[in-house]
Amino acid sequence: MAKSVLHTSLCDDLGIEYPIFLAGMGVKGRATPPGLVAAVSNAGGMGILGCSWLDADEVRRRIRAVRNLTDKPFGVDLLLPASMVDATPDRVEMRARIERDFPKHVAFVRALMDKFGLTPVTAKGGVMSPEFIRAQVDVCLEERIAVFAAGLGDPSWVVPMAHQVGMKVMGLVGSVRGAERQAKSGVDYVIAQGYEAGGHTGKIANFPLIPTVVDAVAPVPVVAAGAIADGRTLVAGLALGAVGVWVGTAFLLAEESNIYPVHQEEIIRGNAEDFVVTRAYTGKTARDFDNAVIQAWETSDLKPLPMPLQGVLMDDFVAAADAAGRADLINNPVGQIGGMLKRRRPAREIMMSMVEEAEGVLDRLAAVRRK
Ligand SMILES: Cc1cc2nc3c(=O)[nH]c(=O)nc-3n(C[C@H](O)[C@H](O)[C@H](O)COP(=O)(O)O)c2cc1C
Repeated sequence: MAKSVLHTSLCDDLGIEYPIFLAGMGVKGRATPPGLVAAVSNAGGMGILGCSWLDADEVRRRIRAVRNLTDKPFGVDLLLPASMVDATPDRVEMRARIERDFPKHVAFVRALMDKFGLTPVTAKGGVMSPEFIRAQVDVCLEERIAVFAAGLGDPSWVVPMAHQVGMKVMGLVGSVRGAERQAKSGVDYVIAQGYEAGGHTGKIANFPLIPTVVDAVAPVPVVAAGAIADGRTLVAGLALGAVGVWVGTAFLLAEESNIYPVHQEEIIRGNAEDFVVTRAYTGKTARDFDNAVIQAWETSDLKPLPMPLQGVLMDDFVAAADAAGRADLINNPVGQIGGMLKRRRPAREIMMSMVEEAEGVLDRLAAVRRK
């Protein structure tokens, strides 16, 4: 079969058909379940398991679950925050620290619980801390997945170990300075993620960000992320100099996605301006569907706690909202392109319509040139 015109150098390097990644999306393991990761890899792209908030045992379990569904390459994404307060994986200890040092934040959450009539629930599981992250990374190295992707931070300590076992490393950034730091640390690909993107996001939009990063880190290849959801936006990413695209929001509406049905409905009815940037849930700027909790946070005079403390503070609230069936109060990270998406589809269909539309766009542009 003839190769698609979209088949870039990245495809040969990674052994895939199309230069399309399912972005690694954390959110407690709901956004990139093994079935979705495998579906994207089986369709010729590269599925990435978002494992940032999952403990090492769960990371291993999910890697093996993907292997049961595909023999194609796939990867894992973890958050490696460049700056983090001195934290331990012990949630009880972290919670006690917050109660002692940040009583106003604790009062804010209690007031929210009262306002929405929620019954207190204590969140379980470990806290993202250097020790927790090290154990996650060890599992990725032991399992020798094809690609290790680092969101938020500095993967320089992972790169030599990953290369030693034949893994490729990708580093996600939202600024040129961050991209230069990643390139220096030896990553194989820099993912440049614009302000439009869902989840943790920087301040620079894709049009200025991607070509500037491409120039700054050459010859390290760049993958474009943020607001890429159809053939037009895929071609735009490649036109800006990227060798592939990293797609998050569009796959949140995949039938294989496991996000709350209420969250899928929020995306379907949302317009671009409904996906706002807030520090309410994690302490770092993240783009989420606007909700009553974000509005309460933005009108409070509180400063976000440093990572991972804001997350620990909010986890109990999120657990209580979950138990009460109030997903509308739980963070729903979505990019601005969510405003364009109007229906759920199987992941393979999302991918193949991107590919076919992109090929059509390129034909159309070539035809204009021939006229
Ligand atoms: C629900 C959700 C969760 C995300 N979680 C992570 C994460 O855990 N690690 C990470 O590196 N990026 C995360 N991101 C960012 C994505 O990797 C990706 O860069 C982004 O989704 C691209 O923009 P788009 O949403 O407009 O496609 C998340 C994005 C979303 C929408």
